[in-house]
Amino acid sequence: MGPVNLPASPSTPQSTGRQTARSAELFRRARAVTPGGVNSPVRAFAAVGGTPRFIRGAQGAWLTDVDGNEYVDLVCSWGPMLLGHAHPQVLEAVMAAASRGTSYGAPAEAEVELAEEIVARTPADAVRLVSSGTEATMSAIRLARGFTGRDVVVKFAGCYHGHVDSLLASSGSGLATFAVPGTPGVPEDFTRHTLVLPYNDRAAVEAAFAEHGDRIACLITEATPGNMGIVPPEEGFNRFLHETCARHGALLVSDEVMTGFRITRQGRWGLDGAVEGWRPDLMTFGKVMGGGFPAAAFGGRADVMAHLAPEGPVYQAGTLSGNPVAATAGLTTLRLADDAVYRRVGDAARVVREAASVALTEAGVPHVVQSDGTMFSVFFTAADGVTAVRDFSGASAQRTDRFAAFFHTMLDHGVYLPPSAFETWFLSSAHDERALDRVVSALPAAARAAAAVPDPTDTKDGVR
Ligand SMILES: Cc1ncc(COP(=O)(O)O)c(C=O)c1O
Repeated sequence: MGPVNLPASPSTPQSTGRQTARSAELFRRARAVTPGGVNSPVRAFAAVGGTPRFIRGAQGAWLTDVDGNEYVDLVCSWGPMLLGHAHPQVLEAVMAAASRGTSYGAPAEAEVELAEEIVARTPADAVRLVSSGTEATMSAIRLARGFTGRDVVVKFAGCYHGHVDSLLASSGSGLATFAVPGTPGVPEDFTRHTLVLPYNDRAAVEAAFAEHGDRIACLITEATPGNMGIVPPEEGFNRFLHETCARHGALLVSDEVMTGFRITRQGRWGLDGAVEGWRPDLMTFGKVMGGGFPAAAFGGRADVMAHLAPEGPVYQAGTLSGNPVAATAGLTTLRLADDAVYRRVGDAARVVREAASVALTEAGVPHVVQSDGTMFSVFFTAADGVTAVRDFSGASAQRTDRFAAFFHTMLDHGVYLPPSAFETWFLSSAHDERALDRVVSALPAAARAAAAVPDPTDTKDGVR
């Protein structure tokens, strides 16, 4: 889920506290037929070691694995399950929709209603529905290029926008030099038009636009980066990006795939966009708006969106785009997500992040907890005295070995955290007192396990 090229964690022996025989057997079978045994890399537990848990079912705030273990879920499918799993009203709507047929390849009412709901909540004038966040960002960039007639895309290190070729890029040798591929399989020609800059760095943005401004089609940013842990924009940073893009005739693409309809009812833009009077030219959405089904969207200014086929010349299409079952799940989720839901998610997140910080402090584990709206993450900082993480280099300076020990102890105590130190912890409105009690009571032992991990520079028997 997160950016590529994150530092790997040393492998941690898998804890033996719980029965995992069926998960282990499924993992063995899965690896025989699927690379790494998973359909998205972070699920393989590679960053924390051990056997991934295969899930048999989920209800509310809880996951049950194939061995019968129950966990409080702090992943929530990486964001979508804002209302918790198997919400009865979402299920009812989905089953009614499915009983009318699962895909038509022709327009249907649910698509219109979902688009209307997104347009009502956000500054987007119009949206196009697609099936994944990757498809949304890829399409938004194509549209930005088609609209401006320019090629260059600016992104920030540590921001993840899905596995779009030109965005799987690492910064070149200098700030305003073009990027290099971040993974084998992406030709250098594809990243020749990408600039990768440090997040929250106004000087770097100004330098890049001063040198390449008339070639930049768009700058894409996570509205609040959540794929290197939560790294909030410094005050006024999103507005600064909007103004800089506008001055140079480039578009600002605000990626709200993760933050949209999760951080607030309106997404990240709702925190300061209306107040500060700025708006993105294009936005991308996913996760919550699909209600746990494959649905995503991109949208924005009416004049830009009018460049999209069939109204305009920029081509984009999808067999399952606007799928009626997915659109119904997303629409029902959004309609149920009222202010009370966001208050409950925010309150539950506050309980967990404060308890995590207390437990880590008491165990003497250096850390920083960062939050924005209802979202937060915990950085296992490598040194004492770090008070804030403002970019990818700060986020990368983590004791991933300590996180791995913490993660496995939480798992042993029945709490399912994201299996990587670089991820956001997600809660839902179904995280009630019983679920929160389980998390809070697991934290001290996990913090002590993190504290017990020896410093990597320690020597043993004089041998490093
Ligand atoms: C901010 C952001 N953009 C885009 C994506 C890609 O979405 P998908 O995994 O649905 O392709 C993600 C996925 O985590 C994301 O967090």
